[in-house]
Amino acid sequence: MSAKIDSLLHEHRKFAPSPEFAAAADASPELYADATHDRLGFWADQARELLHWHTPFTKTLDWTNPPFAKWFEDGELNVAYNCLDRHVLAGNGDRVALYFEGEPGDSRAITYAELTAEVKRAANVLIKLGVNAGDRVAIYLPMIPEAVIAMLAVARIGAVHSVIFGGFSAESLRSRIDDANAVLVITADGGYRKGKISALKPAVDAALQSGDSSVRNTLVVKRTGQDVEWNDRDLWWHDELASVDAEHEAIPFPAENPLFILYTSGTTGAPKGILHTSGGYLTQGAFTHKNVFDLKPETDVYWCTADVGWITGHSYVVYGPLANGATQVLYEGTPDSPHTGRWWEIIEKYKVSILYTAPTAIRTFMKLGRQIPQKFDLSSLRVLGSVGEPINPEAWMWYREVIGGNLTPIVDTWWQTETGAIMVSALSGLTETKPGSAQVAIPGITIDVLDDDGQHVGYGNGGLLVVTEPWPAMLRGIWGDPERFKETYWDKFEGTKGAKDGPLYFAGDGARLDHDGDIWLLGRVDDVMNVSGHRLSTAEIESSLVAHHLTAEAAVVGAADDTTGQAVVAFVVIKLSQAEEASHEDISTLLRAHVAQQIGAIARPREIFIVDELPKTRSGKIMRRLLRDVAEGREVGDTTTLADTMVMNTIASKMRK
Ligand code: WTA
Repeated sequence: MSAKIDSLLHEHRKFAPSPEFAAAADASPELYADATHDRLGFWADQARELLHWHTPFTKTLDWTNPPFAKWFEDGELNVAYNCLDRHVLAGNGDRVALYFEGEPGDSRAITYAELTAEVKRAANVLIKLGVNAGDRVAIYLPMIPEAVIAMLAVARIGAVHSVIFGGFSAESLRSRIDDANAVLVITADGGYRKGKISALKPAVDAALQSGDSSVRNTLVVKRTGQDVEWNDRDLWWHDELASVDAEHEAIPFPAENPLFILYTSGTTGAPKGILHTSGGYLTQGAFTHKNVFDLKPETDVYWCTADVGWITGHSYVVYGPLANGATQVLYEGTPDSPHTGRWWEIIEKYKVSILYTAPTAIRTFMKLGRQIPQKFDLSSLRVLGSVGEPINPEAWMWYREVIGGNLTPIVDTWWQTETGAIMVSALSGLTETKPGSAQVAIPGITIDVLDDDGQHVGYGNGGLLVVTEPWPAMLRGIWGDPERFKETYWDKFEGTKGAKDGPLYFAGDGARLDHDGDIWLLGRVDDVMNVSGHRLSTAEIESSLVAHHLTAEAAVVGAADDTTGQAVVAFVVIKLSQAEEASHEDISTLLRAHVAQQIGAIARPREIFIVDELPKTRSGKIMRRLLRDVAEGREVGDTTTLADTMVMNTIASKMRK
């Protein structure tokens, strides 16, 4: 990590927003002052200003039973009402909520009035199907308006959604359905990706094939019109929506009513269901969306390129923007279909003014060359955002120069599925930004960088990123596993000096504080990988590999990759009895396909190396650090703690061949 720290120390460029931009921005330095002076009062003010409460809250935070927080506990609200009805009632029903752009080129503009009407019908369908408040509904859809409608309909009736990214396999889908005991799955026949139809319903059918699941029905959106198999439990979305009443009154639910579960990879085995609730989540989502991006709902066209299957899609496609009454683009497909200028064409077409995307995408465009975006009129852009992984200064500068015409502020936003909303970021109208730094905690959030003893590292040093006080959008737990919640996030600093003022949230990220106190993220410090901004667990991929009959042992590492940040590289020992059967190349192809089938294509290893043995310590622990050296083509580090110090020589010499 220290080489990285050194290179970042040499970054001295700074970019302030233009005077015109700053003058027109809503966010003022008072936000920081107010939040410092009275943090809870600040969040209470935001909650009252940004949201409609059916029943006002009188208590802001209950932290008497840490790490279980309650925010705005005695208040009541309806999340969907906040994202829909109130905008219509305020006279903004004709404002476009979604400019939907399908990959094949079909498009649809949906106003707030229309979106509200659709969600009301979908809510009535859920009620008709016996979905009650608190029930879990799995959503497995492409990036089409129905994904947004489905999420809001579930929220509207006080039920809990669990959105599963369309790229996950039938097995991943099933394990998530089972963990949450979902009663309904909302899916589609298929979607369009990379110029092709990609089927979704067969995965749902396969997931539910064995029976004995909690799912009673599946609602199927017709997107591609391809043939689908039909089961007793299946219902067409359009038929059901047409068959119910158009009116639905949103009733209020307590602020701590669960809103959604979203599964994410952890350091061990099965993905964990991160639980978010309503009032605090929506407050911080709306606050950050407004102030980080300097949103002007009347004039901006906002586009967040994330899929709703990830937290960024939850907070910054659905809840934050819609709570703020924003107009946004929703794009179904990939950046290069049907041509590599597709994104820039969309920006030109809709005059997108705020773009929020991931460094991997920026680095991919960099590789393709600036001549592609330069063919399009990108002058509507005024704010650019980055999320999901550290953005290197080079990509940051390219983003600003080529996409932002050297003018736009760039906000690099650090946060996680668990934090629910942005935690560390510039505010576009205020902050003088440095390429590569996520800057400082947003107003009302308290962040520190600590050493292993829980001591503040001091300016100029690196350590572990922690959140020192509870925050409104924080996860409320791991679904069904309060112990894992405590262990994963809160036990790390217990008993250390830093923990004396209360529990500290351990994020799992390394960070450095520079001499101005700005934060530079350095990547995960645990066994979680970050591939194209998607979180993957080494343990989960290893267990998938060893589940294959050919495999005796497996070790997975995240190796640095110029474009995707990290890439999955696996080292596999083949069972002796099988070793003669096929060539290494065949085995590696087979195992890559196996992982894709078990977990999903995003988890497919970039490379699989077949080795005779894995490097282990005397106590049997695999030394991934050494494998990472090999995978990244470096000189192998210190091997003295290995049980067999020759193993690495054998592996390394094989790799060089
Ligand atoms: C990483 C995505 C550096 C980090 C919102 C974190 C980042 C993980 C940034 C969470 C950033 C996210 N700079 N690293 N701006 N944003 N990360 O849960 O390692 O999919 O812990 O949430 O992504 O990934 P998740």
